[in-house]
Order: sequence, then C-alpha cells, then structure tokens
Amino acid sequence: MAIPVIDFSKLDGEERAMAMAQIANGCEEWGFFQLVNHGISVELLERVKRVSSECYKLEREEKFFKNSAPVKLLKELVEKKSGDKLENIDWEDVFLLSDDNEWPPKTPGFKETMTEYRAELKKLAEKLMEAMDENLGIPKGYIKKAFNGGEGEKAFFGTKVSHYPPCPHPEMVNGLRAHTDAGGVILLFQDDEVDGLQILKNGEWIDVKPIPNSIVINTGDQIEVLSNGRYKSVWHRVNVMPNGTRRSIASFYNPSYNATIEPATQLIKKENKEVNQFGYPKFVFGDYMSVYTKQKFLPKEPRFQAVRTV
Ligand code: OGA
Ligand code: NI
Repeated sequence: MAIPVIDFSKLDGEERAMAMAQIANGCEEWGFFQLVNHGISVELLERVKRVSSECYKLEREEKFFKNSAPVKLLKELVEKKSGDKLENIDWEDVFLLSDDNEWPPKTPGFKETMTEYRAELKKLAEKLMEAMDENLGIPKGYIKKAFNGGEGEKAFFGTKVSHYPPCPHPEMVNGLRAHTDAGGVILLFQDDEVDGLQILKNGEWIDVKPIPNSIVINTGDQIEVLSNGRYKSVWHRVNVMPNGTRRSIASFYNPSYNATIEPATQLIKKENKEVNQFGYPKFVFGDYMSVYTKQKFLPKEPRFQAVRTV
C-alpha cells in the first residue's frame, strides 16, 4: 500500500477529468498524496536543496550536536540505562521562513532562492485549493477566500525547513512525534534518499517513500473543518534514522489568525443537517492555534471542542 502519486501536469490537458478524480481520491481516501510534474522547475528545486543543506551545515549542525535539548536529554537517558524512550521532544532542527523573517546570514543565495521557491509553492497551493473547491462542489476561490478572512486580512504562508540528523539510538526518540497539521494545505519537499515520514492509515503506519523532486501534499485540520470532514487531517510522524541527515521543507497555506473557519454551507446542507449539534465547530483560527500549540501531539477532536463557538 502506497500513497497516491499524481501527475499534476494532466490537470491542464485532455486528461483533466482523470487528474481531478485522482486528486479527489487522494483527499478523500488518504489525506496525503505525492505530486509529480507539478510545474516547479528541477533547476529551482536543486538550488533549494543546495542552499538548505549548506545553511544547515554552515549555521546549524554543530549547534545541534553541541547544545540542543534532544542531544543532551538522549545522552542522559542512555547513561541511565533505564530502557525508557524520550517522550516529549523531537530529534529535529527547525528554522521557519515567512515573508518577514530574519534570514540566515551566512549562506549565499539562501534568501533569493527560498523567496523564489516560496512564491512558486504558494501558487501551487492556490491551484490545488481551486481543484479542491471544484471537487467539493463549492464556488471557485472559496477556500482561499475563507483563509484570507475579513477585510485586509491575509492568509499565512509559512515554510519550515527541517533537518533530522542521524541518531545513535533511533529507537529511543522520535524525529517528529505523531500529530495532525493545524493549518490548511501543506506542501512538503522531502529528502531524495533518507526516508522516515509515515502516515497512519487504517491503524497502520505507512512510509511516504521519497520520489526525487516530487511534492507531498496533505490537508490540515482547517481543511477537515471547512470540508465538513470530507477531507481528513491525517496523523503522521517522522522516524529518525541511524545514518544520514534527512532534509524536509514543509510549506503551509494557513488561514489568517482572524479568519473564521467553519464547514462550508453547501457541504452542511448536502451531508449533515445537524452539523452544529454533532459536527465540526465554527471558530477563529487564532483561537485554534492557541489550543494547538499546547495540544499538537494529541488527538484533534478535543481541540475542535475547545474552540467551538456554535
Ligand atoms: C510537520 C511535518 C514532516 C517532515 O512539520 O508538520 O509533519 O517530513 N513534517 O518533516
Ligand atoms: Ni506535520
């Protein structure tokens, strides 16, 4: 069993109906799928890989192994020989990019390349969201508009550059603990070779096998709510490996903090008249994020309950 691989270039050709059906299946049955021929040039992707790895090597790797909390805690635990596992931490080095972050100062070309990459990925996210609108039977632009919230608001497009360094005791710590993603549409550019990402499907953890230069798509908690549960936000995790540093670059198209999120009216009418009693809540995304930061590694249902306003 493997997550679907979809040729995104077919969306603009004679086989559009087939590509749309594959996207619908990826969203409804899996919550995760891989896009190939997505229109982002290999030349740009190769540059993204190069500057990310250079930045990690130049500016971060040494600090991770010398000073980071997971390294210190794992060392202590190994010395104790208790047989315990590290439960509340991830074996991960992360830095976040947005439109106005501080850029890593020492890596030539990083800012220019990542700015170009983020602009391309944002366009890809918007194209995908339109495909989702159409597949869900809601007006074109609905998801984008919902995520952009009230007047003058802007959806948040962020990028998380992660490295999972090799770990001497991979059975004792997670790369990234199991969670569902808080936001909207997530576009992940993962390592060509070092694997580790898994999703939970029918109670089983399934590998998301690296396909060089593909983009892995998944839908977050906000798409689950907006689609009234038609598209699920799926549990996933990253295992650490004894050899090789895994790079992964996750970009997320999220609602603005002031945006109100609720199931699309069209989908409530069709599927569940009693939605306000039993189904998904209506809430402000910023309130959701306050809960999420405390409960990221727990099931999402209590988060939905915690922010319910109707
Ligand atoms: C995340 C995530 C997966 C990865 O950042 O939310 O799931 O491969 N990342 O790094
Ligand atoms: Ni995630």
